[in-house]
Amino acid sequence: MRPLKHGYTNRTLGDGAVVKKTYEGPDAELRLDRERKLLTRLQRRLPVPPVHKADSGTLTLGFMTGAPGQELLDAGHAVEVLEACGRLLRRIHGAEASVPAVCARDEDKVLVHGDYGPHNVLLDPVTFQVTAVVDWEFAHLGDPVEDLAWCEWIVRMHHPEHRRALGGFFHAYGRDVPPWPARQGAMLARCESLLEFCHRWEPNGTGVTLWRERAVATAGWQE
Ligand SMILES: Nc1ncnc2c1ncn2[C@@H]1O[C@H](COP(=O)(O)OP(=O)(O)O)[C@@H](O)[C@H]1O
Ligand SMILES: [Mg+2]
Repeated sequence: MRPLKHGYTNRTLGDGAVVKKTYEGPDAELRLDRERKLLTRLQRRLPVPPVHKADSGTLTLGFMTGAPGQELLDAGHAVEVLEACGRLLRRIHGAEASVPAVCARDEDKVLVHGDYGPHNVLLDPVTFQVTAVVDWEFAHLGDPVEDLAWCEWIVRMHHPEHRRALGGFFHAYGRDVPPWPARQGAMLARCESLLEFCHRWEPNGTGVTLWRERAVATAGWQE
């Protein structure tokens, strides 16, 4: 098996048939368990990998076809990729009622992916249909702005040249888009929680410095 590109937290290996994801860092067992539950319940409702096995810190998943969203983005398909991300995010946020065991009932809240963006989406490189949304370990019941803002953050931070295509992302999502102060607030909250995650992993390590710098940069952004 070879290491899969575009993994940012864990060790993920694949061979074209299966993927083995070994969880690293704080709350590894809890994150594995959450991803396993979500993937199991979302089968046939959303394009997600099937779960084959879960044991000793490793989840074995079916290998999904498709090209990583960020590669297609950088190959010049930002508009198509971000529109597909917007359409799929609307489906995710509409799926809350179907995952009661993961999401306590709360009228105002939806199923939040928790790390949404082109980096966790695979797409057909010809039709740009989403073939899989991966990486559900941070999923929870929450506010739609969390995923909207995080996808925006990923593009603005890592693909700033494609920022203008974010209009198509919000338009394809189709529901009211929260105003910039709410989106920026959600971005900063996520930076803070990743800073805390890194601090638990390695107190005052390089991850902490990185997320502190990213939070400062994000706080300086204008709409
Ligand atoms: N079931 C799968 N089929 C094909 N590729 C996958 C699958 N799961 C993950 N990947 C690829 O591996 C990358 C890393 O997996 P991911 O679950 O996102 O790990 P991490 O939590 O480390 O980011 C993904 O961005 C995706 O490109
Ligand atoms: Mg990932």
